[in-house]
Amino acid sequence: MSSRMERLLGGRNRRPLRRASEQTDRAAPILKSPREIQLMREAGRIVAKVHAALREVIRPGVSTWELDQTALEVLQKYNAVSAFLGYRGYPANICASINDELVHGIPSKDRILREGDIISVDVGSVYRGFVGDSAWTYAVGEISDDAAELMRVTEASLMAGIAQAVAGNKVMDISRAVQRMVEAGGLHVVREYTGHGVGRQMHEAPQVLNYVGGDADGNYVLEAGVVIAIEPMVQQGTWQTRALRDGWTVVSKDGSLSAHFEHTVAVTNSGPEILTLL
Ligand code: MF3
Ligand code: CO
Repeated sequence: MSSRMERLLGGRNRRPLRRASEQTDRAAPILKSPREIQLMREAGRIVAKVHAALREVIRPGVSTWELDQTALEVLQKYNAVSAFLGYRGYPANICASINDELVHGIPSKDRILREGDIISVDVGSVYRGFVGDSAWTYAVGEISDDAAELMRVTEASLMAGIAQAVAGNKVMDISRAVQRMVEAGGLHVVREYTGHGVGRQMHEAPQVLNYVGGDADGNYVLEAGVVIAIEPMVQQGTWQTRALRDGWTVVSKDGSLSAHFEHTVAVTNSGPEILTLL
């Protein structure tokens, strides 16, 4: 299989499965013990440390390569490694996606942040065998009202999704909450990329869509010990995306602004716990 094909079929790039024959061999989510969730808390906290450092360095004039270096330094400080570097050949520690770039932007010395940009940074750590995964969209200096609104609604949709990550709910309840929040804001939720279970692997079952629509995992009933990455990807003008020739960078099809907010969340007996916090 070509690497491009593998990317289309695997992990977060996997398109929602629709055919019944494919639905029957969906893997069940891997439940995590309290001890494993403690390790995931530590992996998640390191991701949050990276974001805290990025927030400080993001300003006009900084290259996305410098952001990658900042992330690397923090990961190393806490004895963690990037979950992304080398994943299906991905060449950097983080993803840094500017403006119409939705996800998987590759850091580069040639990409310099400018006043008014928005930048989505996706960070994944591996610490003692477990993955933490969180993305955040940042403003570079002063941004337009429209850009700020896109960021506000996307973050709110993440929080609405997280609120549904409770035992007894279905995965679909998360998807619905995200979609409602986004569409109530007059924005568009991307279909082609999704959230996912997370644990020893970055991408585990279940797939966590950001919209309601006939996927195999939507009916999965959440229980304590499930850990998922919830990650609304939202665009101003269309839900459609397009991949650039570098084979990684995904942009909005119409060139409109994109935002991406993601947390790793554990379903516990006392409700959702966000693992990617300080
Ligand atoms: N947070 C992203 C995800 O959920 C990270 C993937 S980027 C890659 O899939 F480079 F590692 F593919
Ligand atoms: Co993710």
